[in-house]
Amino acid sequence: MTVTQEAPVLTDAIAVEGVARSFGSVRAVDSASLTVRHGHVTALIGPNGCGKTTLMLMLSGLLRPDSGEIRIAGHDPRTDSAAVRAAIGWMPDQLGSWDNLTCLQTLTLMGEAYRIPRATARERGLSLLRRVHLEEFAERPARVLSRGQKQRLSLARALVHDPAVLLLDEPANGLDPRSRVELRDLVREFAAEGRAVLVSSHVLAELDEMVDDAVFMSKGRTLGDDAAAMVADARLKYRIDALDPEALQAALTSGQVDFEPTATGAVTRIDGEANAAQALAWLVGQGVQVHRFGPVGSALEQTYMAMNEERR
Ligand SMILES: Nc1ncnc2c1ncn2[C@@H]1O[C@H](COP(=O)(O)OP(=O)(O)O)[C@@H](O)[C@H]1O
Ligand SMILES: [Mg+2]
Repeated sequence: MTVTQEAPVLTDAIAVEGVARSFGSVRAVDSASLTVRHGHVTALIGPNGCGKTTLMLMLSGLLRPDSGEIRIAGHDPRTDSAAVRAAIGWMPDQLGSWDNLTCLQTLTLMGEAYRIPRATARERGLSLLRRVHLEEFAERPARVLSRGQKQRLSLARALVHDPAVLLLDEPANGLDPRSRVELRDLVREFAAEGRAVLVSSHVLAELDEMVDDAVFMSKGRTLGDDAAAMVADARLKYRIDALDPEALQAALTSGQVDFEPTATGAVTRIDGEANAAQALAWLVGQGVQVHRFGPVGSALEQTYMAMNEERR
């Protein structure tokens, strides 16, 4: 008997290496590589048509890759689809709901499809409805739900079998601002429970406060570590505005701080909130009349723009 020595990477919730998939002559995913860690929220960012949904369908085991390797919690979807299905919760970008079923029936049936006993599935359905603030709709048909409420039901459906890995395809699409904030908080809670979350979007600002890591995708290809380093750097950028911009710039120069001058002050790099507080106190102590001090804004958006510039 031969024993094959393979080293499974069990530490990553999702591990993808060189995955490709075509539809006829359309190379929907050309080469995708990424990892998602447990307890982390990772953004999958790219313009419409770049291959996000196709990649997620392959991760969930619903679509076969032409080539490349996928591991979900250590399992290969090609050889161990049952384990992958058990590990993954999938929220599709298109809202399919069974309009005549009540919200609770929907979740109970879904649970039973995962072979959870009916009573347990019902209990779990109720607790999930509370969690996504739909408890008052438990006994009402899904057709009365608004778009945002349907999204939340869809999210609850993805969680019915308590999956370790969540794939959310454009979950914020069509949500009003309040629902987006609620979605963000829920997604952070899922990660805090130790789940791995991969969330796709082509709207960058909505992801900024939700995600720990970002994977950029363009024309079927993931862009790798350069983009991640650019996001990390963009997150350090602080904008400082003062009543007298020249006085601010002079103070920064005297303090040997690197900065880019702007018309209203300066942009500099500050690592962490404690350092930011210290820097602000120091500037004020120098007599600079600071009237605005904070992160430059969407790190993901800045990175995305910078990458597009590079391509030109
Ligand atoms: N079932 C399919 N048949 C043919 N082409 C497809 C199919 N699914 C996706 N595509 C094409 O593959 C590309 C990537 O699509 P998709 O994965 O949906 O991108 P995204 O989710 O990033 O918008 C697009 O050009 C799309 O038209
Ligand atoms: Mg899509």
